[in-house]
Amino acid sequence: MELIVVWPKREKEERLKDVLSKALAEIGVTQIIRAPDELAAAVQKADLHKKRLLFAADVGETGINLQLYAMLEILRKNAGCLQNSAAGIVVDGSSEFYTKSCGREIAGTVNDAGCWLVGRPLAEGTGSLKNYQVQAGNYHCSLYEAYVRSVTDLVRRVAKFQKPAYQHPKLVCVHSCNPGTSNTLQLWSEIKSQIEPKMQLREISLRNGTIPDCAGCSYEMCMYYSRNSSCFYGGPMVEEVYPMLEESDGLVLLCPNYNDALGANLTAFINRLTSLFRKKPFDDKCLFALIVSGYSGGDILQKQLIGGLNMNKSFILPGNFSLAETANHPGSIMDIPDIHQKAAQFAGNILSCMLGQEAEAQP
Ligand SMILES: Cc1cc2nc3c(=O)[nH]c(=O)nc-3n(C[C@H](O)[C@H](O)[C@H](O)COP(=O)(O)O)c2cc1C
Repeated sequence: MELIVVWPKREKEERLKDVLSKALAEIGVTQIIRAPDELAAAVQKADLHKKRLLFAADVGETGINLQLYAMLEILRKNAGCLQNSAAGIVVDGSSEFYTKSCGREIAGTVNDAGCWLVGRPLAEGTGSLKNYQVQAGNYHCSLYEAYVRSVTDLVRRVAKFQKPAYQHPKLVCVHSCNPGTSNTLQLWSEIKSQIEPKMQLREISLRNGTIPDCAGCSYEMCMYYSRNSSCFYGGPMVEEVYPMLEESDGLVLLCPNYNDALGANLTAFINRLTSLFRKKPFDDKCLFALIVSGYSGGDILQKQLIGGLNMNKSFILPGNFSLAETANHPGSIMDIPDIHQKAAQFAGNILSCMLGQEAEAQP
């Protein structure tokens, strides 16, 4: 499929220009949107539905590209403006910082606008390009050539991306919530009741039994365990979670906000997926998340999940992959106005994504 490139202008963007010209050489590009008013016009005409998109941004030394933020504002103001499209992201910088955080910011915004993200959707170039040391070693090429290779690979994957349509979808829900008090679990039980009749759903609580965090074994040691679908520590991760996940087509995580981050068990769960990921990337599985905060910060967890599971572990991110709500006192989640409608919408989105139907725009 042909690509539309959304690429906010910035002075001194020579490196990004060169990388994109090489990576896009063999791809049909129908439009390059370079200014916020061009993006606003395309959004108004609903021209960005069902498209393949590449978001590219040079964020310089400071990580600030004002044209990029003007574009993100347009996308945030127009719910559903990227409905049923799929995207990849290229962020180029001239310091060692900000490329990943800007990439996440773009990813969260386009996903909220209804856009899918391919697994591993971000190709970033830090100032030194040291982030390509491993790939350059593997491919016996320069850091710059490894960067071009990575962007070229991303562009190809976006152009040929097809949404999955699972025959008999299997979904796994993983959580570590307290069944007696958790708002997150209470909201999930309403969502679950609408999903369960239509697809196979299995649920696993990591609450009973400690999940030791990843031991950080050597690559060779990790590969050794990986070949046997195992991991240094063994236990419930290896005995229950790995087999369930290997069989599944999608993962739903229930994420109470603990100090503006995922709780320790869920963080350990994500880290411990490394061994299974080395055996086979999760790029044929979809990720969904239900996030509940007592005060604020749901978008921070959303980006933590995008970074850990979509960017690093290659899960596909369906449009509007997460529902984030705020509730403090136990049970108060069901007092949120329109909560039943929101739950039904989220359940409907999971069903349509897993069954290969077109998702409706989320408000
Ligand atoms: C250890 C801990 C840390 C928390 N940190 C935050 C926080 O940083 N921000 C916030 O909005 N809520 C925070 N909360 C509140 C929970 O997000 C809140 O209780 C919410 O309802 C989801 O949790 P639950 O599903 O366990 O009920 C925290 C709760 C606990 C127990």
